[in-house]
This record gives sequence, C-alpha cells and structure tokens, in this order.
Amino acid sequence: MLNQLEAGIAITGSGSATPEMTLDNYQLERMVETSDEWITSRTGIRERRLADEGGSLSAIATRAAQGALAMAGIAATDLDLIILATSTPDDLFGTACQIQHHLGATKAVAFDMTAACSGFVFGMVTAAQFIRTGVYKNVLLIGADILSRWVDWSDRGTCILFGDGAGAVVMQANESDRFLGFEIKSDGTQNNCLQLAYNAQPQEIVKGVAVAQGNFQPIAMNGREIYRFAVQKVPEVIEKALFRANLSAEQVDWLLLHQANQRILDAVAQRLNIPTQKVLSNLARYGNTSAASIPLALDEAVRQEKIQPGDIIVASGFGAGLTWGAAIFQWGR
Ligand code: ACO
Repeated sequence: MLNQLEAGIAITGSGSATPEMTLDNYQLERMVETSDEWITSRTGIRERRLADEGGSLSAIATRAAQGALAMAGIAATDLDLIILATSTPDDLFGTACQIQHHLGATKAVAFDMTAACSGFVFGMVTAAQFIRTGVYKNVLLIGADILSRWVDWSDRGTCILFGDGAGAVVMQANESDRFLGFEIKSDGTQNNCLQLAYNAQPQEIVKGVAVAQGNFQPIAMNGREIYRFAVQKVPEVIEKALFRANLSAEQVDWLLLHQANQRILDAVAQRLNIPTQKVLSNLARYGNTSAASIPLALDEAVRQEKIQPGDIIVASGFGAGLTWGAAIFQWGR
C-alpha cells in the first residue's frame, strides 16, 4: 500500500486528433527527386497528415484532449495540471494555456515543455512526479506537433519523414500503481545532428545597440547519425527502465516506440527480442509526428481494443536534443 506521499498512478484515458489533409508518397514524387518505393522501403511511411493554413496546434491538441477526458470519464474542471509537450507551439510564450481555455479547465495550471520527439515520454515522467508527491490528482498530458510548418519541403532527406498530429492521455492518482518505471536521458554534445535552430540577424536599433532579430531555420538532420543513435540508445534505455520496474522484456505486452522509421522499430524490437506482433506501428499512415507519435499510436491501439486493461506497455521516445527515454506502465486503473 502506497502512503499519501507516494501515490499510485494510473493512465485512464487516451485521445488523438490529426488534420484532414493528406500527402502521400506519390505527391512527394512530384515535389522532390524521390520515389514511393524508396520512401516505403527506407522508412515504412506511405502518407502523412498535414495541417492547412487554418489549422492550429491548439485546435488538434484540444480535440485529442477531449477524447482522453471522455475516455477517462472526468470533466475538464477536474484537471489539476495540463502539460503540453511540443516543439511547434502556436505561440512561443506557450500554447498550453490556450488549450486550458478551450477545454474550460478552469482549475488547472498549464504549461508547455519541449523535448522534441521524446516530449511525450518526458511529459509522462514529469506528470508522474506531481502525482507521486501527492500534489496533483488529475493530469492531462498532450503530445502535439505541426512540424510541417518547419520542414524544408525541397529537402528530400527530411520532407518525406514528418507529419502533423496530436495525442493525449489522462494520468490520475490511483490506489494501485500502474506507472512501473522510467529512465530519461539527454546528450547535448550531439545537438547538431537534428536542429530547428534560431538564426540571429543583427539589427541596430540605436547606434551601438544591435539586437538579434532573426528566424527559425527549417529542420536540419543528419539522418544516418540519428539512425545510429536510435538503434543503439533506445534498447539500452528500455533495458534500464525494465530493470527499474523489475520486469523482463518477455513480460512486455506492447512495444510503443516513437514512430520515426519502421526500420528503427524493427531493429529495436530485434535487439530486445520482442516479437513483431507486440510492436505497435501506425507510421505508414502518419509519418513521424514528433511528440504526438506515441500517444497517437497508443490511442489507436486502445480504441481498436488491441491494448487491454492491465497490459504492460513500454513507451520509448528519442529525438532532437539529443534526448531519449522510456516509460513503462500498465494500461488502465
Ligand atoms: N529519396 C531518394 N533518395 C534519397 C532520399 C529520398 N527521399 N533521401 C536521401 N536519398 C539518397 C541520399 O542522397 C543518398 O544518396 P547517395 O548515396 O547518392 O549519397 C542515399 O539516398 C542514401 O542516403 P542515406 O541518408 O544513407 O539513407 P538512409 O538509408 O540512412 O535513410 C533516412 C535515410 C530514412 C532519413 C534514415 O537515415 C533515417 O530514418 N534516419 C533516422 C531519421 C529519424 O528518425 N529522424 C527523426 C528522429 S528524431 C525526431 O523525430 C525529430
């Protein structure tokens, strides 16, 4: 029995939302020198959803959140905390408060956090700390990104990979503890492998005072390095998290990796000796949706009744920073 200062945690609802507009590999063939065959065989991606000019991050994030709240059976007014994991806010000052307003979550405090494609796993760990310490009972965690805003659509090395979407979960204080273990990591020495960086341009506002008013540059990535990093570090971090949870890889029901590339999913599963039928994958239809990819795949599998209450799930994210991490939990109360 956990005491009040060490509350149990349950993940009680999920939701997701994607924009309507699709872009398939054949359309990409008309934009850059590539082919459906190349993209499918190297990545597993066939199409992705893209937000149009009217599509906001807060709108898809709110829809995902509403789905998660409905499944959990709680009202927005019950929420204590809203965390939005994103690298592509509508507003650099933060977008979580707009979502709080759209939901009518009047009691909740809301903030953004950024850890790129690891954002959802880092967000789960952050949310868990607030619940564990007894500070908050009902937390909404959203992973949402509109990377299409920042993709260089003439760069065939990156534009084939990314899509837009949002996913959310409700995490609640619970008598039994379903949040079994985690491990999160970062390594800034490899920051230049994947960036969406600010490029400063000096602007003299008065003689002798020059401020830096520039722009964010499109996503730049060293694909081979990121691939190497992912297939090495992700199995390691999962093994650490399993160790902390006192579980073995055989006890895992579902491997829920950041949906970056089917080859990465296959390589990680193989290293961990986890059979293909336990690996959740929906990247063929959505591409890499960054912080949204894990909750999007989770929500789909829950609604398809693949994931059942009590199933043990290993979620692992990896990406820019570099950042990577794993969280292990059982679905439901
Ligand atoms: N179509 C056709 N040819 C292409 C394309 C394309 N879209 N892109 C690259 N190529 C070419 C390259 O120019 C290269 O040609 P060359 O041999 O003449 O120089 C050749 O294909 C092989 O290029 P590689 O970069 O070695 O291809 P690779 O097999 O590594 O696949 C890929 C590239 C898919 C990007 C892979 O490296 C990868 O998936 N890396 C991980 C990327 C990732 O997951 N990033 C996101 C994680 S973090 C986050 O989510 C933000």
